[in-house]
Amino acid sequence: MISTDLDLAEKLLRNNKLVAIPTETVYGLAGNALSEEAVAQIFAVKNRPSFDPLIVHSDSLAKIQNFVLAFPPKARLLAEKFWPGSLTLLLPKQAIIPDLVTAGLPTVGVRIPKHPLTLQLLQRLDFPLAAPSANPFGYISPTTAQHVAEQLGEKIPLILNGGSCSIGVESTIVGFADEKVIIYRLGGISVEAIENLIGKVKVETYSTSNPLAPGNLESHYAPTKKLFLGDLQEILQKYPPQEIGTLVFRETISEIPLANQLILSEQGSFAEAAKNLFAMLRKLDKMPVKIIWAELLPEKDLGRAINDRLRRASAKR
Ligand code: TXA
Ligand code: MG
Repeated sequence: MISTDLDLAEKLLRNNKLVAIPTETVYGLAGNALSEEAVAQIFAVKNRPSFDPLIVHSDSLAKIQNFVLAFPPKARLLAEKFWPGSLTLLLPKQAIIPDLVTAGLPTVGVRIPKHPLTLQLLQRLDFPLAAPSANPFGYISPTTAQHVAEQLGEKIPLILNGGSCSIGVESTIVGFADEKVIIYRLGGISVEAIENLIGKVKVETYSTSNPLAPGNLESHYAPTKKLFLGDLQEILQKYPPQEIGTLVFRETISEIPLANQLILSEQGSFAEAAKNLFAMLRKLDKMPVKIIWAELLPEKDLGRAINDRLRRASAKR
């Protein structure tokens, strides 16, 4: 069921049931992070491997202090500047966070999401919410309640409707090793914004199955159809134009029928492009085309996060 009923959401979560929640990045599949029973259901519903840890969501820094052992000074600066917002911090976990949540890792990913409905829900609860993106593992993340309903609607009792996500790509994941700050996943807060605040950081978004950064599995965020990022001429030699769908940044391609083309942002806005990215990939996946061609954006600001998602979506499965 899709609704805005916070009372029902609260009741279900208190009873260890799962609720899909809106955030500014993507919809999350939420359960009580302190309950192994609820967390186990998250892995089962998403068909997610148990080596892939979950992010813990809360509504205040004060609450989050109870889940982590330490808050390095740079983490504090980032939290104060960007929370609520699209930033996840990896910090050493307290024992109260079940090992199931962190896949046995000593750190826990924490964040305060920026969505009024979900913040209200979190304020009512005396436990944090573990929530991965509310999509089957490996598929495109959902940015509307309808997206969640299409794939997980039968499996969960409630999808809290908070409209379309304002940012549209997942949170930026930041970890701390000794004195170093490392970005493990590019996301809604740009590298530039982070470096403006705390100086140079490392970006380590490896394409491996490294359990330390499993969000970086090479194939992820993927449509069912083949997504191609290379030279358009190459696929024009193999497919007739009407069988090709395109996802372009600002302008359509003259060789392809207009009906097959989606534009991320005519104004060339990275923010608008990010907001449209996953919904447009889904739309292309449903169109009667055989292959999707996508254009990469300039490698800066949110363009980097968008390109990261496109590359993973196009990787061989
Ligand atoms: O924007 C977001 O972060 C969304 C919304 C719902 O908050 N959530 C999200 O969750 O994208 P998920 O599970 O789809 O991606 C979280 C990524 C995973 O790839 C996981 O491997 C990584 O975060 N992660 C979580 N905890 C970690 C930890 N302790 N160490 C390393 N990576 C971690
Ligand atoms: Mg995900």
